[in-house]
Amino acid sequence: MLRCDILAVIPELLEGPFQHSILKRAQQKGLMEVHVHDLRDWGQGKHRQIDDYQYGGGAGMVLMVEPLWRAITDLQQKTTYDEIIYLTPDGKTLNQSMANALSLRGNLLLVCGHYKGIDERIREHLITMEISIGDYVLSGGELAAAVLVDALGRLIPGVLNNETSALEDSFQDDLLSHPVYTRPEEFNGWEVPAVLMSGHERKIREWREDQALARTQARRPDLLSS
Ligand code: ADE
Repeated sequence: MLRCDILAVIPELLEGPFQHSILKRAQQKGLMEVHVHDLRDWGQGKHRQIDDYQYGGGAGMVLMVEPLWRAITDLQQKTTYDEIIYLTPDGKTLNQSMANALSLRGNLLLVCGHYKGIDERIREHLITMEISIGDYVLSGGELAAAVLVDALGRLIPGVLNNETSALEDSFQDDLLSHPVYTRPEEFNGWEVPAVLMSGHERKIREWREDQALARTQARRPDLLSS
């Protein structure tokens, strides 16, 4: 069972992503739980304030230490987290081996930043891991959290059936996937490679391996050198 608690500034952004297809099935099967929390519930004062100007000046608001501290320690009363993950462009870039490892952990708390980020003291004292989903800046951590939960959910044993096994994904063996085709056999004069229609299992396997390797060499040679 993988439990993901997500502490969000805009929880509405996370209403859709877990309600469909594979992640929906994972939750229905009791293999995964996703709980979205609104940071503002721990905000201060009448306006439930969660952000403020940064010391030293400069544009952009910073998520305040107290609401984050109250939210995280409150959630910790109910759940012992294996990792408290802050989604941030300056975190470690997510890759498949990180996803594999994290999908085996029991309870994760994902903290979404916004604006200029979160008060550094939270990162120093409460956050145990920082993850980026790529070298670009999103307007907040929610969509990054959705990406992470999606990548983890599909790896939980029992979530995918054998046909769609995650073990055959791109990156699982440091190779990109081979090309795939479905009906019809010919469209606009564009034909499916004959080997796939041959029924010859070994030849098909070899063709797929060759294609995966060639594609990786052409598009992502960095994967082969590591
Ligand atoms: N928040 C803003 N940009 C992000 C990124 N690239 N990855 C993770 N969290 C983020």
